[in-house]
Amino acid sequence: MNILSIESSCDDSAIAYTNLHNLELLWHKKISQESAHKIYGGVVPELASRLFANDLPQLLNTFKQEFTLKDISYIAVTNEPGLSTSLLEGVMMAKALALSLQIPLIGINHLKGHIYSLFIEKDEVFPLSVLLVSGGHTMILECYSYNDMYVVSNTLDDSFGECYDKAAKMLGFGYPGGAVIDNIAQIAQRENVAKEKLPIPLENQNTLNFSFSGLKNAFRLSLQNKKELISIIEEVNTIRIRYIDEVSKNVSDMDYIQGSKLKDLLLILQNHNYTKSLAYGLQDSATTHLTQKCKKYLKQNTEIKHFAIVGGASANSMLRSKIQDLCNQFNKILLVSDLKYCSDNAAMIGRAAIGKIKTNSIYNEVLNLDISPRNTELKYRLIS
Ligand code: KG4
Ligand code: ZN
Repeated sequence: MNILSIESSCDDSAIAYTNLHNLELLWHKKISQESAHKIYGGVVPELASRLFANDLPQLLNTFKQEFTLKDISYIAVTNEPGLSTSLLEGVMMAKALALSLQIPLIGINHLKGHIYSLFIEKDEVFPLSVLLVSGGHTMILECYSYNDMYVVSNTLDDSFGECYDKAAKMLGFGYPGGAVIDNIAQIAQRENVAKEKLPIPLENQNTLNFSFSGLKNAFRLSLQNKKELISIIEEVNTIRIRYIDEVSKNVSDMDYIQGSKLKDLLLILQNHNYTKSLAYGLQDSATTHLTQKCKKYLKQNTEIKHFAIVGGASANSMLRSKIQDLCNQFNKILLVSDLKYCSDNAAMIGRAAIGKIKTNSIYNEVLNLDISPRNTELKYRLIS
């Protein structure tokens, strides 16, 4: 029995095919929209929706060249949380497939999907404490089984990934910013560049909450003082705005910048000492903040042996290293997803669907499966 799973919650179209019995990932493909949104500095929902309408059928067609639709036993699809216009595209395709093949449709919570990215082609490990860091979420969860997961700590404002995205946008790098800032910070660390001193959020507050808006603001204020850098960024932004109308959705940002002045300016920006020191300072403060709060959590919760980091931003190099040290200190076993399954993908949705099927939940949701921009499935049991 095989599951076809679909992910379309933000800006990645992905389809996977997983064997229900031995967990083998038989097929997985993804089309990213990053280059289309990059120039706008964030995801443009209307553009995302149009790209999904193009990319999802294209993925399904490629799938059909290798497999027969009649062999599919279940359809699984992300139905919350995410951008409504993006979620709808995947859910509409999933409903059409489930109805025409007359097979059950399973709605999957995207955050549970990220947690199950740990178990792709592997058995589940419960109980488990999880730090989930993505573009929209920063939370600690306690997970006892598929149906028994609770958010115990949350962010008061921005998420970790969002903080990187906004910082990258301020620096003129476009969207998404996580990997760009992480790379520059790693180079700065190797070159012993002095890091910009930025505050560590909520350092003196004895709570488990996260917060990134103050750090983002401190980053903005520090950047404002770097006049030389600001003038390069302004030049980059002027070129972007001048040509933005000329960029059709078929022309990727990389094509666009080829041979243009923008490419040279972005290189200058990237290699500038202030950029390096700001990126390094942000990386250090943001990951120290996450680590301090995880430490506080681990001090209070000694029973759960396994600790995990999941979500697109769990690819962050400094975060992985600091959390590994923390787990060593508290004698916990750290679980991380393969780097290729940290960001949004359909393999994790298929794996989560197997978790759901094994709980014998009701999943014949063809007619009543709805989307929700917000998480409604994971309940809160906040601890201080
Ligand atoms: O999970 P994901 O693919 O999409 C959401 O569900 O949001 O996460 C994407 C987020 C973006 O904000 C991106 O900038 C961030 O993950 N990200 C990173 C890194 N790689 C991706 N943030 C920090 N460091 C990274 N290396
Ligand atoms: Zn995600």
